[in-house]
Amino acid sequence: MTDRLVLAGKTALVTGAGRRLGRAVTLALARAGANVVLHYRCSAAEAEATAAEAHLLGASTWLLQADLSTPSAAADLVEKAAAEAGRLDLLVNNASIFHECGFADSTSEAVLENVNMNALAPMYAARAFAAQQRPGAIVNMIDAMTADYDRKHVPYHLAKRMLLTLTSIMAVEFAPLVRVNAVAPGLILPPEGEDTAYLEALKHSNPLNRYGSEDGVTDAVLYLLRAEFVTGQTLYVDGGRHLRGNMYG
Ligand SMILES: NC(=O)c1ccc[n+]([C@@H]2O[C@H](COP(=O)([O-])OP(=O)(O)OC[C@H]3O[C@@H](n4cnc5c(N)ncnc54)[C@H](OP(=O)(O)O)[C@@H]3O)[C@@H](O)[C@H]2O)c1
Repeated sequence: MTDRLVLAGKTALVTGAGRRLGRAVTLALARAGANVVLHYRCSAAEAEATAAEAHLLGASTWLLQADLSTPSAAADLVEKAAAEAGRLDLLVNNASIFHECGFADSTSEAVLENVNMNALAPMYAARAFAAQQRPGAIVNMIDAMTADYDRKHVPYHLAKRMLLTLTSIMAVEFAPLVRVNAVAPGLILPPEGEDTAYLEALKHSNPLNRYGSEDGVTDAVLYLLRAEFVTGQTLYVDGGRHLRGNMYG
């Protein structure tokens, strides 16, 4: 993103903001002039460090802790964020769980855990955000894997597909005041505990035969947050993986 301060005067809430892509989104928002409420669950030190970095970039920051595995907690979080920051213009539903689980092991508990955290918590957050009855924009982080089938992460896949559908539903329900879009990253960061060998081994799964960068994702998020005539859209940042229709691994 080359334009500076395109989001000046806006205040954003980013869930799961302390680490990895949430951290990158938070810092990109700060660079674009936005103030940021950083949500975290366990990563208090990382969230504080990210907030300090965002502050150095000129942003006002607030920190809020919440466990979002119960979806209604996400509505409470949005209300607290708006109260603390005084206003909320932007919401990035980034926090997520990503556990390996095949079809045979996909119990109702496993599916519901993923649906609660990866689809319903974003939905509750978005509804509380829209209830402010003021103009705003939401970006939901989904996954390029929603375009086909990831047999190693079935409950995750089902929940992210639900969030994909919710993105369209909410774009209709919240119009004209609030726009709702999604970013679908492909191979960007390796899962926790893995290194770039994980990405190297899978890069053949997209036509561009490479893995992406955090900047590619943050550019997409910032674009959708500021694109005043775009809603209900999903932007794939995945090297064209969604065109392949094949499976991971
Ligand atoms: N990494 C990739 O390449 C990639 C690819 C495709 C899609 N995505 C999507 O992009 C987003 C960010 O990816 P990521 O890999 O950076 O995410 P991540 O590391 O898997 O998770 C982000 C944050 O979610 C928070 N979280 C987990 N369980 C929570 C709970 N019960 N309550 C509240 N917060 C909770 C954690 O916060 P704390 O650390 O504070 O506990 C965690 O840091 C996700 O939605 C993911 O599905 C990422």
